[in-house]
Amino acid sequence: APQATTVTVTGAGGQIGYGLLFRIAAGDMLGPDRPVRLRLLEIPQGLKAAEGAALELQDGAFSLLEHVEVTDDPRVAFDGCSIALLVGARPRSAGMERADLLQANAGIFGPQGAALSEVAADDIRALVVGNPANTNALIAAASAPGIPADRFSALTRLDHNRAVGQLVAELDARPDDIDGVAIWGNHSSTQFPDVSHAVFGPVKTGPDVTMVFDALAAKLGSSEAALAWLDDVFVPRVAQRGAEIIRVRGSSSAASAANAAIEHVRDEQGGVAWTSAAVVSHGEYGVPEGLVCSFPVRSDGDGYRVIEGLDLDDRARARLAASVDELVAERDAVRALGVI
Ligand code: NAI
Repeated sequence: APQATTVTVTGAGGQIGYGLLFRIAAGDMLGPDRPVRLRLLEIPQGLKAAEGAALELQDGAFSLLEHVEVTDDPRVAFDGCSIALLVGARPRSAGMERADLLQANAGIFGPQGAALSEVAADDIRALVVGNPANTNALIAAASAPGIPADRFSALTRLDHNRAVGQLVAELDARPDDIDGVAIWGNHSSTQFPDVSHAVFGPVKTGPDVTMVFDALAAKLGSSEAALAWLDDVFVPRVAQRGAEIIRVRGSSSAASAANAAIEHVRDEQGGVAWTSAAVVSHGEYGVPEGLVCSFPVRSDGDGYRVIEGLDLDDRARARLAASVDELVAERDAVRALGVI
């Protein structure tokens, strides 16, 4: 049998962790041929919840699951780890300023980046889920001198999937019939969900493919109506979907976030022609180098690369610039705190 891959989940006693662990153990992330060794990192208050999840993992009797270990020590959790899912973060409490939030999270993602750098496997890839995800990834990468920065990414696949879900509902389509949606910018309400390169139709077979925009215009009666729907309904709905879930469900999105994290890693490792992820900018589309920004990306199985050469109209450029301004402000605030 092939050697097991060590996967570390931080915040493993939380809501998203609870959704993630069972999907990983079932082989949904790395496939049916790769056994996994799970390491669950928590803070002392969260250890019992993680230990409970570990008992339930045992009760799943998963054939791919070789071992489960629960710890509150990052150096133990990340030892020999090839895939790190950094979920545990400090949430914003009432009245907390942005600088306080960034500082509290720097106190988590700085030491975790340093521990990864010291003890993780050479092929380590880390996905940051915990918010503010883009800037937490920036902090972790900056704190991990032994790991190439582009091994760190942040999750915007949930936003991507939410955008596809909205189009599926509006166009009465199936998810597989929509390709080429992009999330640009920060994983926050300033993000830009973009359909201007998206196609609609039996994507995999080729003929009868139309642009999503044209399909929307046909459905809604005119290009003006399609534009209005995109600006007034689609973009705000996707960008504020997290708040909507909290309002309706009574707690934050957990299963859909776990699903998106599984798909992010699955496609990064298995290859994908087009999805969205927040990755370290090399200056693509004018995004300042070093920022962790969401782009349309592809992977050949060796990490996400930005899909370059897409035309952005003035509207898209303005929206991307606004979200990038927010990322720059977060980075500058972290710099001012002396964190990076
Ligand atoms: P939760 O509060 O249920 O769980 C978080 C867990 O992390 C807790 O058990 C806590 O004890 C643990 N934790 C805190 N600090 C830690 C540390 N230093 N090391 C290890 N564990 C630590 O929260 P939930 O719902 O699981 O969400 C987790 C994070 O994911 C939040 O920051 C949330 O905002 C974010 N999120 C991100 C999404 C994305 O698309 N990027 C989507 C949804 C949530």
